[in-house]
Amino acid sequence: MSISIFSQGRDLNPWVKALKAERPELDVRIYPDDQPREDVTFALAWNHPLGAFTEYPNLKCISSLGAGVDHILKDPAIPEPVQITRIKDENLTSDMANFTMALVLNHLRDLHQYKAAEHERNWEPLRYRRNEEVTVGVMGIGTLGTEVARRLSSIGFRVTGWANSPKQLGSIKVYAGAAELDAFLATANVLICLLPLTPETANILNKETFQKLPQNAYVINVARGEHLVDEDLLEMIEAGHLAGASLDVFREEPLPKNHPFWAHPRIHVTPHIASVTNPESAVGQILENYDRLRNGEPLLNLVSRIKGY
Ligand code: GLV
Repeated sequence: MSISIFSQGRDLNPWVKALKAERPELDVRIYPDDQPREDVTFALAWNHPLGAFTEYPNLKCISSLGAGVDHILKDPAIPEPVQITRIKDENLTSDMANFTMALVLNHLRDLHQYKAAEHERNWEPLRYRRNEEVTVGVMGIGTLGTEVARRLSSIGFRVTGWANSPKQLGSIKVYAGAAELDAFLATANVLICLLPLTPETANILNKETFQKLPQNAYVINVARGEHLVDEDLLEMIEAGHLAGASLDVFREEPLPKNHPFWAHPRIHVTPHIASVTNPESAVGQILENYDRLRNGEPLLNLVSRIKGY
């Protein structure tokens, strides 16, 4: 039984190192230099070349190297019996909460505007809103969204959530399903997208959605680029309905040099760094699943192929 790691564009050596540090005897390979492929039962993947898994007759599990699994599920050629798992990790969750808090506070306290003013040596104090005056709406109340909502609430924001199905989150009101989407959107002065990418959630950040947000709302997308209709965001900022956006994820990554988001004064771009899986912190659960697979036990953090998360 061997593990093979698949990725386009990621340095995989830290993963090999972390796995070997935990278990020196483990047979860890990196695609495409992972022959004979009959040995491989467990795969770790991040943006693998589509179709690659068809060459592994004994593959039983594909583990995402991150929280999202859309990059795996978009491959139509994954054999049906293969189980798919994702990473759920305290550091990953905490990093996401810290990053989204930084973005919300950055927006609220106008730090980008002050940076621009600083370049022009322009001393111009702006009126600011306090946390208690602002409602942050979190779309997607999964592992990450729950923690983001809790943390924002703990520093005084009014917080609402939107989930696929009803959820209890202490004093935070969670709206559920398509029927309650509009009511949720109407609350959100700041909208944070943390949804999994599925056929139902693709393009959900569109003009119609934005129009239902309060005037001057701010949009934060730390989920996937495909959630956002880029042109609709630009149009709604241009129309003065949205105050701006912080985007960490894009339809095409790296974001093409000629994309209008780069130079836009109201759009803040970061290179998909909101929360990055740390190999040392994640290998424990990967090896746990590897052992469970060998022992025929149920896997942790299993993903439903039907739900897409
Ligand atoms: C990052 O985008 C992840 O899915 O972990």
